[in-house]
Amino acid sequence: MSSLKTDTIQEEPEKEHEHVIERLRVRLSKTPLTIVVFGASGHLARTKTYPSLADLFQEKVLPKTLNIIGYARSKLTQKEFHAQISESLKLGDRLQEFLSYCTYFQGEGYDNDDSLKKLGEYMKELENEKIKKESLKCKTKAANRLFYLATPPNVFGQLSEKIKKHLSHHPIKNRDDHSKKKEEEEAEIGWKRVIVEKPFGEDSESCEKLLAAMGEHLEESEIYRIDHYLAKEMVQNLLVLRFSNTLWDSLWDRRSIKCVKISIKETEGVDGRGGYYDEYGVIRDVFQNHLLQILCLIAMEAPVHLQADDIRTEKQKQPTTTTTTVGSQANGSISQPPFFVVGQYGASADGKLPSYLQDPSIKKLNPTSKQVTFAQMVLFVQNRRWNGVPFICKCGKALDNKNAEIRIQFKNDELSLYPDAVINELVIRLQPSEAIWLRLNTKTPGFARFQSTYPTYLDLTYQTRFGHHF
Ligand SMILES: NC(=O)c1ccc[n+]([C@@H]2O[C@H](COP(=O)([O-])OP(=O)(O)OC[C@H]3O[C@@H](n4cnc5c(N)ncnc54)[C@H](OP(=O)(O)O)[C@@H]3O)[C@@H](O)[C@H]2O)c1
Repeated sequence: MSSLKTDTIQEEPEKEHEHVIERLRVRLSKTPLTIVVFGASGHLARTKTYPSLADLFQEKVLPKTLNIIGYARSKLTQKEFHAQISESLKLGDRLQEFLSYCTYFQGEGYDNDDSLKKLGEYMKELENEKIKKESLKCKTKAANRLFYLATPPNVFGQLSEKIKKHLSHHPIKNRDDHSKKKEEEEAEIGWKRVIVEKPFGEDSESCEKLLAAMGEHLEESEIYRIDHYLAKEMVQNLLVLRFSNTLWDSLWDRRSIKCVKISIKETEGVDGRGGYYDEYGVIRDVFQNHLLQILCLIAMEAPVHLQADDIRTEKQKQPTTTTTTVGSQANGSISQPPFFVVGQYGASADGKLPSYLQDPSIKKLNPTSKQVTFAQMVLFVQNRRWNGVPFICKCGKALDNKNAEIRIQFKNDELSLYPDAVINELVIRLQPSEAIWLRLNTKTPGFARFQSTYPTYLDLTYQTRFGHHF
């Protein structure tokens, strides 16, 4: 019985998955594709961008006419660059094949006309070689070009200008994003896309300035602002879990839910990367993007469709507030729980791990920094569904363990026949290993134990259930 059920469940997602990949494969195979990673010598490129490209390569989504060019100022030979990006690639015997698509182009800077003009010529040269090699009968006159800006945001504006000036097939006119004409033109000349990672500035004003600097040279439909956290398996799963299981429909609100806990904990400290971190801190780096995105996915109403715009519209409707009582102690006792706690990590008890201020990069840049590395806030979503339900959110660096999880705790029934029963809890673990647990009470197994409850979990650990993918 159970094996029959397992087989049936496993087949369906597999088919859908293949279908989406096949569509992408076909779409991308028609035109040569060049991906330029700016800031290729850095942390984001090495730990996230190249590994994600390698995943797409493993899925056989990327076309054979692919070129991936890493651009940065650092002096690196091709061999050194390959060694650097290979550190995070899990490609086994396909590593060399992937690396054969990846080249490194050293330039003088991100606003240097000469270097970027040469990059444009280099791109053209590689694209023509691939077209010849693959004897591609291209309908398009030029390649699709994707620019991934893995650089600090201070160069986004100037890079946008140079992309338009030196790296585009021709200037794009302003026109309605969804008009047919643009699609037709892109089908003929190849498209251009520019991806930037959060954070987009430090506040609304600097964000608007940054977006305006990019918008001066690129069309809105060409810019993709991303938060890579949304691509995590379990974050993507939140919509499916919530809106495909009718089981939750009558439970997902203040009547049944006591509280929601969301935490993203890291064991690593700032580890020499204080230049970026000290400017932003944990609230701008994690809280206002990754954590609030998760909160919205838990709290939102069902979108009209699963299109990006529909999901965004529903997320934006969440009116969150927090009580600004900072955790303070009067005469050593706390009269009410703090709603807002912030802190900065110290050295480990055995002194082996440095404090934030002892990190070499912070020592050098800002030795008396007050930057926040831990934050906990209790947020309330003020609408009919969630009124009064605390969303206890916390995140931080250099903590006791590394994990990210959501805990949805249900209310107890005061009239329960079993006063020792534990509360029901739905736990969604995002990392390190994806899992969903549902805490339930069962009868303590064995003879005559029918009056005592036994707390246990329904356990959907992804590694066990979908092993080959996780
Ligand atoms: N690292 C992550 O996990 C992560 C996650 C999410 C978002 N982000 C965002 O992604 C961007 C890049 O992050 P990262 O961690 O890769 O940063 P990074 O290592 O400090 O910078 C990436 C590269 O950009 C160049 N660069 C550094 N500082 C520069 C400056 N002031 N002006 C011009 N170029 C500079 C350097 O290359 P060359 O000197 O060789 O040119 C460096 O290797 C940042 O905006 C960051 O907030 C990063």
